[in-house]
Amino acid sequence: MLTVHSIKELQNAKKNHQGTIGFVPTMGALHEGHLSLIRQAREENEIVIVSIFVNPTQFLEGEDLESYPRREKADYKICELAGVDILFMPTIDDIYERDELKIMAPARGGYVLEGTKRPEHFDGMLQVVMKLLNLSSANKAYFGKKDAQQLALITQMVRNYFIPCEIIACEIIRGERGLALSSRNAYLSQEEKERALLISASLKLATQTVLSGEINCNTIKNKMQELLQEKTDIEYIALVNRDFHSIQTVELGNTMILVAVWVGETRLIDNIWI
Ligand code: PAF
Repeated sequence: MLTVHSIKELQNAKKNHQGTIGFVPTMGALHEGHLSLIRQAREENEIVIVSIFVNPTQFLEGEDLESYPRREKADYKICELAGVDILFMPTIDDIYERDELKIMAPARGGYVLEGTKRPEHFDGMLQVVMKLLNLSSANKAYFGKKDAQQLALITQMVRNYFIPCEIIACEIIRGERGLALSSRNAYLSQEEKERALLISASLKLATQTVLSGEINCNTIKNKMQELLQEKTDIEYIALVNRDFHSIQTVELGNTMILVAVWVGETRLIDNIWI
């Protein structure tokens, strides 16, 4: 595996390989969720590129940019063992100019749910993903369904800007007891991890409720709220269709149930597609 930092080094490294490129962009602190993306990229492509870049433009004032977990050595080892060909770890100056052209997320999809809670987060996320897709020349890029809105917006950006890259949606990876894996789980104490289990439990409850024949979204939301409010601070529970429009009744095959809660000082999101 070759580790490269500058854009020039990346371009040179790519010249030494031939074949289709699978790309996994990350912000590091890699876990089993990232590993599943890397494994899929490995299976489906001749060359695998992983980037690690904690992107400042997608963090809002007061968010965890400074404290975001950074584990370069462990990340390097994980990528090496997973058979990554090129690990790209650029600096902020490599990626950004001072006064540059911006990308704006669309109103629908970009400024609902996560977008209302974190205005401009998606603008910064799209800006860096656009750059990374161009730099990697990826044929396929891999993203987890946990960040459902991120995934939808990246898919739209690729469509709208005719970027020749296929966006691959990958399943959410969960710990043994159901907690969706996230780099931010590192912030949780043991007691908070127990409380965070309510998130996946609430999504399971929602699924069971639908399977029992109850498809009214308000009823499902109320049940989830009852469970979640015991030990978390709910930011939102939303039932939407795959275009992020709110819905009154669940339509199987076209519904997502999304949750954002605070457990102590940590904000966690999760969802289920039914
Ligand atoms: O999901 C992430 O880790 C980030 O949002 C991404 C896609 C790497 C862009 O910085």
